[in-house]
Amino acid sequence: MTKPTRSVGQPAAHDSAMAQVTGQARYVDDLPELPGTLHLAFGRSERAHAKIAKMDLANVAAFPGVEAVYTAQDIIGKNDVSPIGGDDPLLADGEVIFHGQALFLVAAVSKNIARRAARLANISYQDLPAILSIEAARAAGSRLEDAQIIRQGDAANALASAPHTIEGKLATGAQDHFYLEGQIAYAIPGEAGEMRVFSSTQHPSEVQGGIAHVLDCPAHKISVEIRRMGGGFGGKETQALLIAAATALVASQSGRPAKLCMDRDDDMAMTGKRHGFEMAYRAGFDDAGVLHGIEIDLASDCGCSMDLSAAINDRAMFHADNAYALHDVIIRSERFRTNKVSATAFRGFGGPQGMILIERVMDHIANELGLDPLLVRQRNFYRKAQDTAPYGQKIGPLEIEPIVAELAKSSDYQARRTEIEHWNQAHQTSKRGICLTPVKFGISFTTTFLNQAGALVHVYRDGSVILNHGGTEMGQGLFVKVAQVVADVFGLPLADIQVSATATDKVPNTSATAASSGSDLNGMAAQLAAKTIRARLINFAKKEYKCAADQIHFSGGKVQVPGAELGFAELVELAYQAQISLSSTGFYATPDISYDRTNHQGTPFFYYAEGAAVSEVEIDTLTGEARVRRVDILHSVGKSLNPAIDLGQIEGGFIQGMGWLTNEEVCFDAVGRLTTHAPSTYKIPTSSDRPDHFNIKLYASKGSEAETVHRSKAVGEPPFMLAISVHGALRAAIAATGSQDRFVELNAPATPETILRAITSK
Ligand code: MTE
Ligand code: MOS
Repeated sequence: MTKPTRSVGQPAAHDSAMAQVTGQARYVDDLPELPGTLHLAFGRSERAHAKIAKMDLANVAAFPGVEAVYTAQDIIGKNDVSPIGGDDPLLADGEVIFHGQALFLVAAVSKNIARRAARLANISYQDLPAILSIEAARAAGSRLEDAQIIRQGDAANALASAPHTIEGKLATGAQDHFYLEGQIAYAIPGEAGEMRVFSSTQHPSEVQGGIAHVLDCPAHKISVEIRRMGGGFGGKETQALLIAAATALVASQSGRPAKLCMDRDDDMAMTGKRHGFEMAYRAGFDDAGVLHGIEIDLASDCGCSMDLSAAINDRAMFHADNAYALHDVIIRSERFRTNKVSATAFRGFGGPQGMILIERVMDHIANELGLDPLLVRQRNFYRKAQDTAPYGQKIGPLEIEPIVAELAKSSDYQARRTEIEHWNQAHQTSKRGICLTPVKFGISFTTTFLNQAGALVHVYRDGSVILNHGGTEMGQGLFVKVAQVVADVFGLPLADIQVSATATDKVPNTSATAASSGSDLNGMAAQLAAKTIRARLINFAKKEYKCAADQIHFSGGKVQVPGAELGFAELVELAYQAQISLSSTGFYATPDISYDRTNHQGTPFFYYAEGAAVSEVEIDTLTGEARVRRVDILHSVGKSLNPAIDLGQIEGGFIQGMGWLTNEEVCFDAVGRLTTHAPSTYKIPTSSDRPDHFNIKLYASKGSEAETVHRSKAVGEPPFMLAISVHGALRAAIAATGSQDRFVELNAPATPETILRAITSK
């Protein structure tokens, strides 16, 4: 008998690894260009809020090499590229609402000509008052929707009777996605109004639907395809449509292929970022540090339009408890409209902002009582099976306590804490800090209906398999994971499964690849599709070999039937000749979840993903510079589908979170112009920022409590929030520069300037 093969659980290399390191992996910009291709560039608004008095584009149109110029007047269908709100024009019409907004489109024979010509417009504006901060928006009553409230128990009463109370504030900054591959799309018109659009998007179906609206045509005329993105991180969930719709508009008007490869400066100024937050808390607790009551206020800068701000701010509220039982709690969330580029999805989707606040509260309580912050955290953990989250979901069993206990031990937390105290006493101009923070992240789209996925699997006569599903590959390893799942259904080696580009004409009506649920949803859908084909093969073999279904086994590329073994391809060919279909779709929808947004109660999540990190930092008290000395992470992915991919996601997510909280600073000037619009001024972490010692381990989980694919857990976003430990450690190091009588506050990003300010303002 052949040795059974199993792909799931193996550290298989990313399916594109070889192609990527050898430069053979194709991105949209690598597709061969068809003759006659037009290259596009946007003309951008130079005001944050103004009426457009006059738009003189004569110089733009006259520039040699420019073939055409398009404005809002050229749009036949709806001038809108928003996901929900109907409030994101493709091209500004009469009024601009943020600095950098798209005004017109230049189509030229080359990218450089288009970009240069776009700067030659003569535009006169009538300025309107621009709102550029949460404070100004609050004063002006500029909101995208009413304040949302989640409550459980009676926070006011619990606060009034608590032995101790504290209050504090925390602001966190925006963050640019800085995907390596910028936003890009290439539209190729076909016959009879058909169009194929290659778009670097996490959400091909939304790009398809959005283009159909802009062109006023049925969705079946438009097909959208993406083989892979060079990173998305949430920044290509809704934002890709702006770019793709521009190419489709020009392709439909001109009848020529049209490509828009965004210049990095344009990309940064014109597409959305993470929401900046301003938060406040009032907490009451007892001598042991156990919370009695807490009031949490979250306010965010949503920018100029709705985009996904409702769901993002809801997710911030859902994570304001993190791993802690808040019995008497009120969480208020305000969503402000400002004259900045609309804020959008970014890894964690609001969760990181909510979570960092409660972690701050834990540190504050510990400081107040002179306790180890880890002890305070542990005393506040959810631990009763009947505990409910503030939004009403029964928490059920969590892995957080054993994870934290194991990590505290393996990282030598206690001994190092004492050591650092001594070290700090002996050093004046450098201080060290250590902090352990847990993560509990809810998995599922909180808009329940989005939790669905489809797949399409074909088996060819030679036994080779092609796999397609609605999920998109952005580097996170979704394709290899789903291929592993399918390989195991057929008992085939992974190499026999070919993954293929995501396309709206193969699997329709898909959700964005987001909310970390790509492999949960598409893995299940593909598994079901493959199982349907396998069931047909079994049914056929049963008759052919006169045996029972459970006597037929698929393993090692072979099929065992009583008394015989044949190759998978042999059985497939026999089934083909017996006129059996070797192709199937699969469809999956997450069961048992629902949420009522009108009263903010329900079970929005299928399960929680958990982990914890300990970070140790050192700061220079004279310059404010900081270095992450050591990080230990213990993270649960349930039963891992692919431990190599999962470790990569944990490492990358953590570093990206560290960037958000340390050196990535998004700045706007007094007139609302983005001043950090290139790598020269916007600092993402580089390899030299990697912690000196970086220990990452997967927790030996018994598997997801929920019935997920092979009991795995989602991994894309949760590790991002492990980096909150870095910020906590920085705060602790700053606190060590003075006496501990007043609690030190520290905003994010903790740039050297921010750290110095925190040291001197103590
Ligand atoms: N990893 C890489 N390399 N590139 C990315 O763009 N996006 C993150 C995460 N990991 C991203 C990534 C985000 S925001 C999400 S929601 C998930 O991957 C999406 O993929 P998944 O659902 O398959 O985990
Ligand atoms: Mo991720 S922010 O859900 O694309």
